[in-house]
Amino acid sequence: MTLDPRVLELLSDPETHDPLELGDNCLINPKSGQSYPIREGIAVFLQEASGRNRKYQTMYDRLAPGYDLAERLFYWISRKPDRRLGFIPELEVPAGARVLEVSVGTGGNLPFLREDIEFFGLDLSWGMLRRCRHNLKRWHRSANLFHGEGERLPFRDAVFDCVYHVGGINFFSDKARAIAEMIRVAKPGTKIVIIDETEKVVSQQYRENPFTRRYYASEDRLASAPTDLVPAGMREIQTRLVSAGNEYCLTFRKP
Ligand SMILES: C[S@@+](CC[C@H](N)C(=O)[O-])C[C@H]1O[C@@H](n2cnc3c(N)ncnc32)[C@H](O)[C@@H]1O
Repeated sequence: MTLDPRVLELLSDPETHDPLELGDNCLINPKSGQSYPIREGIAVFLQEASGRNRKYQTMYDRLAPGYDLAERLFYWISRKPDRRLGFIPELEVPAGARVLEVSVGTGGNLPFLREDIEFFGLDLSWGMLRRCRHNLKRWHRSANLFHGEGERLPFRDAVFDCVYHVGGINFFSDKARAIAEMIRVAKPGTKIVIIDETEKVVSQQYRENPFTRRYYASEDRLASAPTDLVPAGMREIQTRLVSAGNEYCLTFRKP
């Protein structure tokens, strides 16, 4: 992988936050000696997913090959407008912004963003990231992709102009830690946007769908906006429903 030195300057060890150096097809923490491989151009910061994340990593790895097709079929059959149009305007993406999507999946939000940005995407599922890389080629878009957990971001403090998440936080192993991480890597003044499905969708669709129900059958948590996990001191905290009530959108600004 030829890693742009400017990108290397933004990275840090997800466990210790020490700066990293580029090694032979890997990133190295010179303090601890810990090395993180770079596979197929994607920096790998995940050895084994933590806690409940493992279950959803397996689920998304299995869904990944058919994920985009299923989404396209849904919109074609239902004739509904793309739900992303309902929340993309919530993102504040100035010209030339450095943007981070936590849980980038197959990259479905990227085509809705302006082209003059520096885009970073992280995901738990290797399968989803590979689909994302494939899509980037189709869309002639570039991005820096990372395999890791939202709870442990491999970035230095205060480096992103826009930080957002769509579609997974309801069942993260540690939602509070993931939110704290999104805040840590955002520059002061950044609006942070968190979107995920409401319980209505989880109980009526995911717990019923033959491809997903086995993962949700043992899930004892209900899906709801993690507004109570936003740390004190954040400004302009707002939660509203989007996508005809199928998703919530939690936004706040880092002071
Ligand atoms: C429904 S998909 C949404 C993908 C993309 N954000 C979109 O809007 O199309 C949810 C994604 O969250 C990822 N994910 C789930 N738990 C995660 C975690 N703890 N850390 C990072 N990504 C996670 C999954 O691998 C999956 O790609």
